[in-house]
Amino acid sequence: MDSPSADIHLSPVTKNAVLVDGVVLNGPTLDSKSGEKFVEEAFPLIMEEAVRKATNVNEKVCEWQPPDALKQLLDLELREEGESHQQILQRCQDVIKYSVKTGHPRFFNQLYAGLDHYSLVARFITEALNPSVYTYEVSPVFLLIEEVVLKKMMEYVGWEKGGDGIFCPGGSVSNMYAVNVARYKHCPNIKDEGLSGLPRLVMFASEECHYSISKAAAFLGIGMKNVYAVSSDDRGKMIPEELEKQVQRAKKEGAVPFLVCATAGTTVFGAFDPLQEIADVCKKHHLWLHVDASWGGSALMSRKHRHLLSGIHRADSVAWNPHKMLMAGLQCCAFLMKDRTGLLQMCHSAQASYLFQKDKFYDVSCDTGDKSIQCSRRSDAFKFWFMWKAIGTRGLEGRVNRALALARYLAEEIKKKEGFRLLLEPEYANVCFWYIPPSLRNMPEGPEFWKRLHQVAPAIKERMMKKGSMMIGYQPHRCQVNFFRQIVISPQVSREDMDFVLKEIEALGVDM
Ligand SMILES: Cc1ncc(COP(=O)(O)O)c(C=O)c1O
Repeated sequence: MDSPSADIHLSPVTKNAVLVDGVVLNGPTLDSKSGEKFVEEAFPLIMEEAVRKATNVNEKVCEWQPPDALKQLLDLELREEGESHQQILQRCQDVIKYSVKTGHPRFFNQLYAGLDHYSLVARFITEALNPSVYTYEVSPVFLLIEEVVLKKMMEYVGWEKGGDGIFCPGGSVSNMYAVNVARYKHCPNIKDEGLSGLPRLVMFASEECHYSISKAAAFLGIGMKNVYAVSSDDRGKMIPEELEKQVQRAKKEGAVPFLVCATAGTTVFGAFDPLQEIADVCKKHHLWLHVDASWGGSALMSRKHRHLLSGIHRADSVAWNPHKMLMAGLQCCAFLMKDRTGLLQMCHSAQASYLFQKDKFYDVSCDTGDKSIQCSRRSDAFKFWFMWKAIGTRGLEGRVNRALALARYLAEEIKKKEGFRLLLEPEYANVCFWYIPPSLRNMPEGPEFWKRLHQVAPAIKERMMKKGSMMIGYQPHRCQVNFFRQIVISPQVSREDMDFVLKEIEALGVDM
């Protein structure tokens, strides 16, 4: 079919025409039939290119093009007139072709990967219905679902009496919520009076914490200098004694400590802070304990691995992203709070009278949107609920166990293989390692060795992306030169993919 997309707009009915400003208002002007036909034509293409081929191990992970070439290939210019359906279908094809296939079994680049088909269907449903989750009247189903999912997640955190929470657009935003609510609890006047008159507030997080903690401090007017970095040990875990020292330091300076952010699953090493000991320090100094479990929270689903988060039930708040390890699809992030006094609502509500009318004909306690800092809000809980319904808790647990077992397998293979060196034993699904190419293998490990090793991971990364064979992240970290960080998540990934990774790195770096 090659109908011009302009056809999607019907000519208005001109009989008995009502005109306003010269515009005929009779009858609809959108041709739904033509629109539906377009959707029907686009669906098989999406299924073939963005689902089937994008997850096929024999296809490329990415089709690398430098930005200028890609701009040309995509013809990004926006014009006065619309294009035909055929041209628009070609646009679909091109967008998919040049996008990175994050559901591909050899995409190990980020803390999310893989494709869950149930979550995908849930996303299709919410995209089609386009709900905003603020009031029961416009999102009855999705609000009830969000409540159930939050409650269930709180059970896994171990808050027997429940708590409160809300889905946020990202773990970074959940962390920001934690800082804001903790500060509000500490000085409730801030909501009306603002920052003036406040003492210097100080918060604490380990050196390994996610950068969103500093961003939250900057965004909320606390100041990045008032995030005191607590040293971590050589496995990347916060040292509780160092936390105690930093709290004492802040107090001596006359500042007011109010929050500690512990990390359960750090971004680079996947390390888990010792929550029990950190909770003891918080209790002693009356500090809000927030656990950023954006990445590691999913270990709570596993009876085998949930010990990694031992003590999390003592947290005042938790950030947990099912879009990472559990593959619920971007974005799916819960902010959970132990508080049951309505603190979240009190901290954020603005009681817009056009949205949160108190005299509605139903129980307005279901209108939970005022707990959020947003107005319109996506139904992110639904895709997680739908997937959870489909594969059950045991299915989610199986995914976590398998991902961690695959990470373990890869670490053991790295230890056996000449030219590879593990930085540290993985505690979670992050496997951090160096590839030492043949030319460096007999070099003494002095400054020149480290300087040259620093250049290896970026060079191999360039080659793997240009070939499209796989994607793995790399970074320098503190005093360590560039190393690979392999993240294992998707149940589509197999032992064979782990073996492939090592062989491919060797092949790409053999001449270095
Ligand atoms: C430990 C940790 N916290 C927070 C975040 C931020 O999550 P998001 O990307 O959903 O904002 C990340 C992201 O990787 C993370 O690793």
